[in-house]
Amino acid sequence: MTTAVGSVFSAVLDPVNRHDPYPLFTSLRREPVSVTADGRYVVSTFDAVSALLPDPRLSSAGAVTDLVGLPPSFLMQDPPDHDRLRRLAYRPLGPHWVADLEPKLVALAGELAGDLRPSTVDIVDDFAYPLPIRVICALLGVPLADEPRFRVWIDRALTAVQPDRGALEELAEYMSELRAAPGLLRDLAADGGMSRAELVSTAMLLLIAGHETTVNLIANSALVLLRRPLWCDRLVAEPGLEIRFVEEVLRHDPPVQMLTWRTALDDIPVAGTTIPRGASVTLLLAAANRDPARFAHPDRFDPDRRPAPHLAFGAGIHYCFGAPLARLEAQVALRTLAPILAGARLLEDPPEYRLSAVLRGPRHLRVALDHRQ
Ligand code: HEM
Repeated sequence: MTTAVGSVFSAVLDPVNRHDPYPLFTSLRREPVSVTADGRYVVSTFDAVSALLPDPRLSSAGAVTDLVGLPPSFLMQDPPDHDRLRRLAYRPLGPHWVADLEPKLVALAGELAGDLRPSTVDIVDDFAYPLPIRVICALLGVPLADEPRFRVWIDRALTAVQPDRGALEELAEYMSELRAAPGLLRDLAADGGMSRAELVSTAMLLLIAGHETTVNLIANSALVLLRRPLWCDRLVAEPGLEIRFVEEVLRHDPPVQMLTWRTALDDIPVAGTTIPRGASVTLLLAAANRDPARFAHPDRFDPDRRPAPHLAFGAGIHYCFGAPLARLEAQVALRTLAPILAGARLLEDPPEYRLSAVLRGPRHLRVALDHRQ
């Protein structure tokens, strides 16, 4: 354990390195656990991150935030409240909830793709961004007529650098009213297990956890296609390849790069270091996913590699609730985009990235769609 290596972590947070933090992760992995100047413990190898993700001595509670007076969502809670709320949130969905959404998803992706004209378009603003919003609206029961309003709240409340409290409040208020419309929120309310505040907090969590993450997965996938158009041809020629392709994007360029909201409840020995009780801990999922001890040639993007579980969705009790939906959205997006992007030119490479080092992804992917249309 060294603090010198820990200072590399501040370079990871620096926006100038946002387009490619991976060489910095390689440096960080030299020490499985390093400490930053302000005492944060940063964990970077696959084995150490995998060991800590399910460890009950790491708490997710208490770290953040007063979200407009709501109780913390289950992402930010420990058992028993975490388990109770997560179980209740799953209950109305049923085992086929994602498969049930597929026809709608295919139709939405087709509509958005149909609007991409052979000129300059932005694959983020015109495709990757609206698709997950429309899907989550369909899931929660937001009527089509309200979607534009909903989108403005999301823009102002969730994707702005400085979240707009007013927009968050309006969103929470709207969610609370949605209990009357057919959809997940009405089913959750009918179930009766959650208080009204817990219901709104859960709905906000589904929205927040599921939105920008999925935008980034679709955008990161599109970026691979734009840089290496041969993948477009393969995706068109080999139905089913999109499944392995999405898994490899999740491993190679995960939308959630790190988990920053864990606190040690006890002294925790890991990889030759002891993380002291009370320390803030950051788990570097993106560094773990490129650990050569786990993945051969980890920097190589290779959907044909022997499948091995990655950590893009976390692990343990907080394992991503929406992983099947996120996967399907990205797979459908790829199937839809591959023939379109085969003849496209990326106008700016590297593209401009969003500011966040945690939820990392391109802010824009401006492309010229041309000859092979
Ligand atoms: C949790 C990643 C999409 C809902 C998580 C966690 C990760 C993650 C890493 C674990 C957090 C932790 O351990 O503290 C992703 C990625 C996505 C994605 C990479 C897209 C590519 C979604 C979607 C939804 C969703 C579409 C909802 C529809 C959630 C929820 C949790 C969660 C509710 C909290 C689970 C818990 O605390 O028990 N996600 N997610 N996510 N995700 Fe996702």
